[in-house]
Amino acid sequence: MVEALREELADLTASVRAFLEWHAATGADGLPGHPSALHEALGASSPDGGPPAPRRAERGFAGLDAPSPPASRGGSDAAFAPPAQRSDAGGASPPQPERRSAAASPPQPEQRSAEAQAARPPVQAQRSPEPSPRPAVSAASAPRATAAQPVTPEERVTRLALLAEEVRTCQKCPLHEGRTHAVFSRGSPLSEIVFVGEGPGAEEDLQGEPFVGPAGQLLDKMIAAMGYPRDGVYICNIVKCRPPQNRKPEPAEMATCSPYLASQLALIKPKVIVALGATAVQGLIGTTEGITKLRGTWKLYKGTIPIMPTFHPAYLLRQPSAKREVWSDLKEVMRHLGKSAPDRG
Ligand code: URA
Repeated sequence: MVEALREELADLTASVRAFLEWHAATGADGLPGHPSALHEALGASSPDGGPPAPRRAERGFAGLDAPSPPASRGGSDAAFAPPAQRSDAGGASPPQPERRSAAASPPQPEQRSAEAQAARPPVQAQRSPEPSPRPAVSAASAPRATAAQPVTPEERVTRLALLAEEVRTCQKCPLHEGRTHAVFSRGSPLSEIVFVGEGPGAEEDLQGEPFVGPAGQLLDKMIAAMGYPRDGVYICNIVKCRPPQNRKPEPAEMATCSPYLASQLALIKPKVIVALGATAVQGLIGTTEGITKLRGTWKLYKGTIPIMPTFHPAYLLRQPSAKREVWSDLKEVMRHLGKSAPDRG
């Protein structure tokens, strides 16, 4: 009888001690919701040995005289967090991708479906009034960015590099025959803005980088006027290979190349796309409307990413008076991004 009472008392004492330790470790009010939560909070698997929570069979009466388990649980602080808040619950999960503030966001009516869109192979029928050729990038090879598998910045860079390599050797349309280099992109894959042009010119074809010729130099000035470093934004084109004599790309060429751009945008998920010229807008949303009508009016890419159409810098080289409108369009972009225009002196 006395023995049984002693054992009972030992259990009770150990339970109280365990609770006090749990409370000290977590700062939580009230009791742990579940016995296993208590067990976990006390670091059952910590290197300090056996489970600290009392178990009749293991500690019993003798536990009263045994030394207390050390306060330290031997793991990271996360081990002391209440189970619902533990960050190690999904140890194999990748870290969360950066989240952008909603306050500064331009209209994004279907934010969730942006990720769903990214998971799908690009739909070409929406892009071109022409009959669609086969997709240039197979569903298997196209990089994916799904809600279930968030793409970290590192993965984004890696996947874009893989895609660039695929583009480098692409032979899916006749434009590859005349190229020196395929032109994938320049700038930061972590940018909040993507500038999309039409296709490489002579200088871009030679150097393998977009917008490095005369139009590119003007684009650099536009980017600087917005307050970004030259390589702080991402720049790419509708088609990745130079059309002969700098002609406008054919709708079929644009459609064949469009999965590459779709994959770039799905990975980067910019807050805003600036479409440079009518061909860029056409390649992005399929409209054949003129740029004079389109510019300065927000459009949406795949129902998710706001597009600001504006004049192509090559047009500005011929028509400098149109710079005023372009600056107004870029200021609108900055307004959406919550940025103020830098003082231009
Ligand atoms: N014009 C474009 O549209 N893209 C380039 O890369 C260069 C000139």
